[in-house]
Amino acid sequence: MNAASPIDPFAPWKLRGLELRNRFIKAATFEGHCLGGRPDPKGLARFHEAFAKGGAGLCTVSYGAVEPGGRTLDDQMCLQDDILDDLRQVTDAIHGQGARASVQLAHGGGFSKWKGWVGKRARGPSNGLNDLGMLVGTPFTRALRVAELPKLADNYRSAATRAVEAGFDALELHMGHGYLLSQFLSPAINRRRDEYGGSLENRARLPLQVLRAVREGVGDAVPIIVKMNLRDGFRGGLEIDDSVAFAKLLQANDADALVLSGGSSAKNAMYLFRGQTIVHELIKAQRRKIDKWVYRMAASRMKSLPFEELYFLDLAKQVMAAVELPLICVGGVQSLASVHRALAEGYQAVQLGRALIHDPALVNHYQEGSKTESGCTICNRCVAEMDRNGVRCVLNDALPVRG
Ligand SMILES: Cc1cc2nc3c(=O)[nH]c(=O)nc-3n(C[C@H](O)[C@H](O)[C@H](O)COP(=O)(O)O)c2cc1C
Ligand code: SF4
Repeated sequence: MNAASPIDPFAPWKLRGLELRNRFIKAATFEGHCLGGRPDPKGLARFHEAFAKGGAGLCTVSYGAVEPGGRTLDDQMCLQDDILDDLRQVTDAIHGQGARASVQLAHGGGFSKWKGWVGKRARGPSNGLNDLGMLVGTPFTRALRVAELPKLADNYRSAATRAVEAGFDALELHMGHGYLLSQFLSPAINRRRDEYGGSLENRARLPLQVLRAVREGVGDAVPIIVKMNLRDGFRGGLEIDDSVAFAKLLQANDADALVLSGGSSAKNAMYLFRGQTIVHELIKAQRRKIDKWVYRMAASRMKSLPFEELYFLDLAKQVMAAVELPLICVGGVQSLASVHRALAEGYQAVQLGRALIHDPALVNHYQEGSKTESGCTICNRCVAEMDRNGVRCVLNDALPVRG
């Protein structure tokens, strides 16, 4: 163990009573194994089994839409009864390797090219443009009515209870990256004049209602992790003072841990990834001309940004000073030294995205001492693979392709 870190990352720890074998969590990275919205049980199970077998303590299955209109793409699963048997194969595969399973509960809000919205308006906090849907026939967003919000929170609750039924041990509520709850929090996107817009207290109202609804649905035993933005990273977006205050509200409303990220998939995707732009690869990966145009139009929002390890650490320190609940580091955990540094600085666990896509067995390698660094080059080309044959590292064949 590194002397700088008082916490052993390889020792078991507990999150609200859930015993995890170590402090390594596979971050939610959309898998691309849900064609037409149905999980391919074998593909998705093999994908996550690789991380579980490779030593991760908790594996996060990505993008479970809480209602059909919460998808941003047609190939995302919706957490309804008809897919629970398929998902059970995924959680069984993860459990079979000694890890625990978590699923990300998400809603795209006004950012969607799901075909169900074509000819209609996707729903967000305010009327506006739907950047992703612009050229596929759903260019506008309609403001959700106050009367629609209880049903929305209820759909999060039902999705959460179904996830637990399918064998998930923990839940990750997506409140960052420009998806629906992040849209409500963001002053640039949420221009409402009612009790859901304006002050932070108002912008946080729906996210907190959702958190309480999910807790009510799953009871006391299941850990609820919230992934949130430290900053949106674009003009007029959520800033650190508000996110610190929001973290306190999440703590007061019984969240179990916070994953501290930033950025918006719609407006500045590179803020959440850093490194080389993904736009050229995304354009190449699209099959339809119209989708290529969408990404060409979005190119200015996906400019390369410098990468450094633990790139959210400095902002996260402000949250660390304000709350006591466990904080989870995400963003550039690319070496064992960074794992130790993150824990020494005040995080309680680390999430790894690209480092595990590159080498799903990296945690075992760290523990055995056969590696101390990830071989990931931060080329970000794995992101475009979700639109080809499923997310994988372009440098190797460590993960299954869709098939
Ligand atoms: C291929 C890919 C897909 C991703 N999909 C999601 C997602 O569905 N939900 C999410 O919250 N973050 C997603 N992310 C972001 C990661 O969870 C993480 O926040 C980001 O990659 C930074 O962590 P890293 O430096 O360890 O990769 C994705 C990242 C990658 C590389
Ligand atoms: S494609 Fe491979 S090397 Fe490139 S960022 Fe993704 S995981 Fe890392």
